[in-house]
Amino acid sequence: MILQWFLCSFVLLNFFLQYYLILDAPPDQMGARYPHMFLILLLLHGANAALNGPVQKWQTLGGQPPRVIARGGFSGLFPDSSQFSYQFAVSSSVHDVVLFCDLQLSSDGLGFCKTGLTLENSTLIAEVFPTRDKTYKVNGEDIHGWFSLDFTSDELYQNVTLIQNIFSRPSTFDGAMGMFTLEDLYGLFFQEHKLSTEDYILALPKDFSITYISSPEIEFLKSLGGKLNKRNTKLIFRFLGEDVAEPTTKKTYGEILKDLKSIKAFASGIVVPKEFIWPLNKDLYLQLHTSLVKDAHALGLEVYASGFANDVSMSYNYSYNPSTEYLQFIDNADFSVDGLITDFPPTASGAVGKNMQVCVYWMNCHLVFLNNSILLMIFAACLAHTRVNPLPPPGNGARPLIITHNGASGIFPGSTDLAYQQAVKDGADIIDCAVRMSKDGVAFCLGSVDLSSSTTAATSFMTKISTVSEIQNKSGIFSFDLTWSEIQTLKPDLQGPYTQAGLKRNPAAKNAGKFVTLPEFLDLAKASNVSGILIEIEHAASLAKRGLGLVDVVSGALANASYDKQDGKQQVLIQSDDTSVLAAFKKFPAFRRVLIVDEAISDASKPSVEEIKQFASEVTVMRGSIAQVNGFFLTRFTDVVDRLHDANLTVHVGVLRNEFMNLGFDYWADPIIEIATYTSSVMADGLVTEFPATAAAYFKSPCSDLSLNLSYTILPAHPGALVNLAAPGALPPALPPAPVLEPADVLDPPLPPVAMSSPPEAPNTKAADTTSSAVSSRAGCCLLLVGAIAALLSISFH
Ligand SMILES: *[C@@H]1O[C@H](CO)[C@@H](O)[C@H](O)[C@H]1NC(C)=O
Ligand SMILES: *[C@@H]1O[C@H](CO)[C@@H](O)[C@H](O)[C@H]1NC(C)=O
Ligand SMILES: *[C@@H]1O[C@H](CO)[C@@H](O)[C@H](O)[C@H]1NC(C)=O
Ligand SMILES: *[C@@H]1O[C@H](CO)[C@@H](O)[C@H](O)[C@H]1NC(C)=O
Ligand SMILES: *[C@@H]1O[C@H](CO)[C@@H](O)[C@H](O)[C@H]1NC(C)=O
Ligand SMILES: *[C@@H]1O[C@H](CO)[C@@H](O)[C@H](O)[C@H]1NC(C)=O
Ligand SMILES: *[C@@H]1O[C@H](CO)[C@@H](O)[C@H](O)[C@H]1NC(C)=O
Ligand SMILES: *[C@@H]1O[C@H](CO)[C@@H](O)[C@H](O)[C@H]1NC(C)=O
Ligand SMILES: *[C@@H]1O[C@H](CO)[C@@H](O)[C@H](O)[C@H]1NC(C)=O
Repeated sequence: MILQWFLCSFVLLNFFLQYYLILDAPPDQMGARYPHMFLILLLLHGANAALNGPVQKWQTLGGQPPRVIARGGFSGLFPDSSQFSYQFAVSSSVHDVVLFCDLQLSSDGLGFCKTGLTLENSTLIAEVFPTRDKTYKVNGEDIHGWFSLDFTSDELYQNVTLIQNIFSRPSTFDGAMGMFTLEDLYGLFFQEHKLSTEDYILALPKDFSITYISSPEIEFLKSLGGKLNKRNTKLIFRFLGEDVAEPTTKKTYGEILKDLKSIKAFASGIVVPKEFIWPLNKDLYLQLHTSLVKDAHALGLEVYASGFANDVSMSYNYSYNPSTEYLQFIDNADFSVDGLITDFPPTASGAVGKNMQVCVYWMNCHLVFLNNSILLMIFAACLAHTRVNPLPPPGNGARPLIITHNGASGIFPGSTDLAYQQAVKDGADIIDCAVRMSKDGVAFCLGSVDLSSSTTAATSFMTKISTVSEIQNKSGIFSFDLTWSEIQTLKPDLQGPYTQAGLKRNPAAKNAGKFVTLPEFLDLAKASNVSGILIEIEHAASLAKRGLGLVDVVSGALANASYDKQDGKQQVLIQSDDTSVLAAFKKFPAFRRVLIVDEAISDASKPSVEEIKQFASEVTVMRGSIAQVNGFFLTRFTDVVDRLHDANLTVHVGVLRNEFMNLGFDYWADPIIEIATYTSSVMADGLVTEFPATAAAYFKSPCSDLSLNLSYTILPAHPGALVNLAAPGALPPALPPAPVLEPADVLDPPLPPVAMSSPPEAPNTKAADTTSSAVSSRAGCCLLLVGAIAALLSISFH
């Protein structure tokens, strides 16, 4: 029954893989012994010889690259320990990925992989056998549930199917796969079933070549140690929580941690929760690392860190980029752990990314014995050790521009001096300023004309709340209703889009930084090494009616800063959703004009593209106009980018954000996979991002260059690949496609003249609708953008 779910690739793999086993064995069950054990399977294939080549950079115990250990396979995506989960872990990770199998024995002693003590949370066992739950004493504590050892292997194999037990992960594959046995994983069949964990391990065929066995129980490891001599097996001691008592010695794991030397007597390595190495403070910021890894290495003990996943809230120091977290453990100045136990093995693989290439230059080359010949090879990691690499220059098909969205607004409040400084430091090519106007005509940068969304205005200027329906339907506190001195009394407010869902951005900097006027922004840009600036102009018509000439102010400021001179070494991009605004900048030939289509479209008609070419040489489109999704799965790429490229228009895509809730399942909750996808599958010319450091880290990595033919590289997502695995009916019906862009959507009415004096202040009522519908087409765009974000949120996992 399970076999029919096998994909060919996996079956084939079984033929040429060499198997090594790592077992993590448990304490005794039922009062004395725990009813399951942990089993880690190490799969090695391909050019093993080359793996042993020297890579001096790694500060692991043996100097080898750290191991990627897939907990229950690729359990971040598929039901834990299922066939798809293991299969994907193998096909998407470094070639020597270790498969972690938490082994449970059936009543007749067959080994199944299933993480956790009981079965009801991750299988449908409670529905099939509703009355077969039991309570066992495990390490002195009563545990109630459905235990594998109360069921025969036939029952588990034939009647029980797997489900996803973590809410934020896809339930699409629920009920489609049965329990996975070691036999499934290895194509082996154990003639003799044994009831005790120790007997089970000792009964495994010798050619299983067990490499590691680990257990949280000291006596078990000691007992097994004496009996496994003939196998080339390492024993690993697994730490549970610091306050938990180790069952045989009754000491807490915290106490045992202080006596690493005693572990050396019976184990060659340890598994610890990652917080034992990089502890967090109560605010979820990283503290200094402990000396655990260095102490263990000094004793000759290997250290494996556990608890990694892309889709959980992580320390704010990582800015929601899971790769940064792995690098903290394997690529810091002081040490590298020897292995990472993760639910998302491809992301860990991207960080480790063991690569071999035949040498082109002599530098860093190593002699390697491979396939009976001696080769000169170079070993390169993907993301590790690449921080010091130069960022390759953008353009000409090399890589897309990194364009910020309100500066590094993922890290500091958007459009503040701190956000811009961070963006420059993080390697942004183009920093952006969305220009707003105060009531008294001061131009400044801010993400929204509604101050309540990115400042503390809501606490101090409630009286200025109004509704301006041509801008947005909900009421707000608009910049043009406050003077610059009033605005300067406000503080910036870092409100990430997923704060409500629990993913705050850098709370320590919530109100940090100061607002930046347009001239200050230009000064800051001039003094930096960015290759250009992007000035965004919104609501110009609406402001003109209020006596505020946004276009003139921007032109004046740019000219005053000499940005209009052809020889300026920094590019100026003028971006607007309003063709009349772009038309007004035609008189500055040095400026590049960018039309932003902030409404989701599914295609662009030829006449609409022709119309765009009248006003702009570049277009910024939303992610939803390029990648179509259904139930958080990528289904296809639209032709929008090709249409625009065919007309020689440059295409930027945005807005990229690191938070996993912003990423479809096909990106594996990894923002770098999304960047890789827009770079090499979509061929975008610019990436608009709130986290420029993430994009820069990718482009500094050799793995961003797919033409290098690296043995492991970070691959773009393939739309449809996951959807095709889902059972028919498992996905919601597809939404109707977004509209096709037509010329009428592109062309805007001419800008009204700037009113001589501002109109009377808008009344403070929610119904106040101050101006006509002359700009309603743009206002509609804004709503659609908001709608697109809302739609994304509603299909996200909460
Ligand atoms: C199973 O899920 C329930 C409810 O979410 C939780 O309280 C319980 O601890 C889980 N049990 C196990 C063994 O994970
Ligand atoms: C378990 O599966 C077998 C074989 O498919 C079937 O005959 C039996 O009725 C099932 N038992 C339950 C409780 O569903
Ligand atoms: C984490 O971030 C906090 C706040 O920015 C900083 O003080 C701390 O030094 C950082 N920790 C590490 C290990 O980088
Ligand atoms: C080594 O040999 C295998 C099988 O013969 C082949 O697939 C592989 O490409 C060879 N590797 C190199 C680096 O030549
Ligand atoms: C610009 O300078 C900063 C340091 O000031 C550096 O971190 C960054 O990499 C540089 N960017 C480029 C594109 O050279
Ligand atoms: C406001 O809401 C109405 C009705 O829902 C809609 O037709 C209109 O386009 C919206 N306007 C803006 C500016 O969002
Ligand atoms: C023009 O630039 C200079 C120096 O950069 C500045 O002092 C002056 O205020 C600017 N004038 C305007 C109108 O922006
Ligand atoms: C695009 O540019 C190329 C070269 O600059 C030119 O040959 C081609 O005709 C242009 N295509 C369009 C549709 O303008
Ligand atoms: C990568 O492989 C392709 C096709 O096999 C080949 O054309 C190309 O030259 C290779 N690139 C490098 C850098 O070896």
